Amino acid sequence: MQEKINKLRELNARAELGGGIERIEKQHQSGKLTARERIDLLLDKGTFMEFDKFVVHRCSHFGMEKQKPLGDGVVTGTGLINGKTVFVFAQDFTVFGGSLSETLAAKICKIMDMAVKMGAPVIGLNDSGGARIQEGVQSLAGYAEIFLRNTLSSGVIPQISAIMGPCAGGAVYSPALTDFTFMVRDTSYMFITGPEVIKTVTHEDVSKEELGGAAAHNEKSGVAHFATENDVDCILKIRELMSFLPQNNMEEPPFKATTDDPNRLESSLEEIIPTNPNVPYDMKDVIRKIADDANFFEVQEHFAKNIIIGFARLNGKPVGVVANQPAVMAGSLDIDSSAKAGRFVRFCDAFNIPLLTLVDVPGFMPGVSQEYGGIIRHGAKLLYAYCEATVPKVTLITRKAYGGAYDVMSSKHIRGDINFAYPTAEIAVMGPDGAVSILSKKELASSDDPAKKKDELVANYRDTFANPYRAAELGYIDEVIEPAVTRPKLIRAFEMLANKRVANLPRKHGNIPL
Ligand code: HXC
Repeated sequence: MQEKINKLRELNARAELGGGIERIEKQHQSGKLTARERIDLLLDKGTFMEFDKFVVHRCSHFGMEKQKPLGDGVVTGTGLINGKTVFVFAQDFTVFGGSLSETLAAKICKIMDMAVKMGAPVIGLNDSGGARIQEGVQSLAGYAEIFLRNTLSSGVIPQISAIMGPCAGGAVYSPALTDFTFMVRDTSYMFITGPEVIKTVTHEDVSKEELGGAAAHNEKSGVAHFATENDVDCILKIRELMSFLPQNNMEEPPFKATTDDPNRLESSLEEIIPTNPNVPYDMKDVIRKIADDANFFEVQEHFAKNIIIGFARLNGKPVGVVANQPAVMAGSLDIDSSAKAGRFVRFCDAFNIPLLTLVDVPGFMPGVSQEYGGIIRHGAKLLYAYCEATVPKVTLITRKAYGGAYDVMSSKHIRGDINFAYPTAEIAVMGPDGAVSILSKKELASSDDPAKKKDELVANYRDTFANPYRAAELGYIDEVIEPAVTRPKLIRAFEMLANKRVANLPRKHGNIPL
């Protein structure tokens, strides 16, 4: 017996060495942890159960039959995060650069299938040179098997990706199909084709950092949702994200006890919102004042900063926050912000996370490039997402809510459940300046003092339309509230909505304007 146990121990030790000590040292020297170290850090201590540790590839081209490392370039299994089951895979860059073989794909697919069966999230730690070149089409087939599972389990279980090394070709499409993508600054890259290919085809000279580093994908392309400092920071942030998410689409998001008083009054909110509608302020200050323990877990912090999305808790219960940011482009909605918020609204709706919408929006962004870029189509994504969402939806208009953007930002008319406004709210078809210029063109042209006349007309318009009371008269605003009572009011509203039951008509699926 002891002999057999020793053999098992020896095989386990071999598998745990992946591509060997030299490559492990290289991984460490480049500032990265190994696949196993990453999993250890990700999961609650001692909870990892590994599968397929002795799987080997079946390729016999290019001398591959002479190198058959146990586990074949990916560590897969299950464990707990914050006491809850997750399934995890971590690509092992020390084995053929983490490149994807047929058997490696089969290992990943196995845990993806188990995750769906068990209703538990999947977390993928990616560090891979893409399709394993020696395997040809079998590797492509492996990717497609993963993409199919990513797609079919979208909206059923949360799927999280971390990019923790160079990820090329097929290695980036699976993350793109998942819900959230983390990147590590300086050590992770994502691209379809690398700098050399680009140079040959388009003659553009670009470094891999500029092309597909954490900054590029967090600030420019919007492909990634989080830019983290190093492997440890990345993994701890994944754990924090998980604390807001339910296990699957049939469960409620997890409760986290707080000592923050649900009846806390916050008179400082009166100072944050400036009385002058043209003065910007930071909407994140408002969110932190309202949230439990001032804790706001922001998503896509560096992309389309004119809209803010992220998670907070109100009296222990997670909410998804969508908020215009008056400090950036006056909070107007453009192509990127509409797509960013639209996708987030759909994630929250799929996973039973109630939506808190904070509105201060002067309208959609005017401009030729926006029109040519398809602002109509992209703006419609956010509109579609809100219209479709059936989770509890509470809206608070802090200041401007003009034009189509008023409708889009979870208005009463598209099934906002409870719609609050501050006394500073301005709800109308357009702002006073624009409205007066159009409505009183002739009057202004014939006036002796057009500037004075315009001031008078603007003041008159502001009194009549730029306030919350016309909308409140019509019942479009349920209550005009003082800023100080925001937290208790929102908590009461979400508590009242906890058992909301609304279902859309059965259909195969809608046709969101992609
Ligand atoms: C097989 C690979 C590999 C691959 C890397 N390796 N990529 N083996 N298939 N795709 C191996 C290397 O041979 C090397 O083996 C080890 O992994 C480490 O690679 P290095 O190049 O030494 O590391 P580094 O300098 O850090 O560069 C990493 C890299 C580079 C940027 C990922 O290796 C690279 O550009 N790889 C190719 C990327 C690529 O074009 N992939 C195919 C994409 S097409 P040794 O034995 O020397 O340690 C694709 C199609 C799918 O994925 C499409 C589906 C939609």
